[in-house]
Amino acid sequence: MIRLEKLTYENFYDVFGLKVNKAQKEFVASNMFSVAEAYVTAVNGGHVFPFAIYNDRKLVGFIQLAYGENADQDGVSMEKDSYEIWRFMIDKRYQGRGYGREALRQAIEFIRTWPCGKADLCWISYEPENETAKKLYASFGFEETGEMCGDEIVAVLKL
Ligand SMILES: CC(C)(COP(=O)(O)OP(=O)(O)OC[C@H]1O[C@@H](n2cnc3c(N)ncnc32)[C@H](O)[C@@H]1OP(=O)(O)O)[C@@H](O)C(=O)NCCC(=O)NCCS
Repeated sequence: MIRLEKLTYENFYDVFGLKVNKAQKEFVASNMFSVAEAYVTAVNGGHVFPFAIYNDRKLVGFIQLAYGENADQDGVSMEKDSYEIWRFMIDKRYQGRGYGREALRQAIEFIRTWPCGKADLCWISYEPENETAKKLYASFGFEETGEMCGDEIVAVLKL
């Protein structure tokens, strides 16, 4: 059974040990970088939600959600006042078993509890070559906006 657990003293170190395949390295930042970014965001008044992904008691992945950050970065208009999926990965040992799909479903369910207030959109960006992520997000209703965030395609979900 997949569940999301907030990052704690007990699990953060193991989260740093999770890895994607070599071919996927360009698709997602390291978890250590993402958690550092979460720290900087949080100490500057931002809203960020890093979660460890467990299958029963086994740590299998990491997902980091945020709200309303980076409004002036990269010229992407919808980042302000919307939720975002900043980072998402399932360790290479556990991919292809349905864990990613279920973790994403639960992440969206969490967002719909409105931890930072109600919003219309959830925002994501991915590398054009990341066909797996593109299809997965599309199956949840994410639609590409035509905008780019750096070299990544922007897609949004109506909440
Ligand atoms: C994207 C990712 C999180 C998906 O996690 P996962 O646990 O492997 O995904 P699931 O097993 O739930 O599969 C989800 C869908 O992707 C498909 N899929 C998974 N791995 C695939 C692969 N290597 N090639 C093609 N399709 C793949 C599955 O068939 C499934 O489709 P379906 O539900 O329509 O049958 C994982 O591949 C990953 O960590 N990738 C590297 C990091 C990354 O790209 N993160 C996203 C950044 S935006």
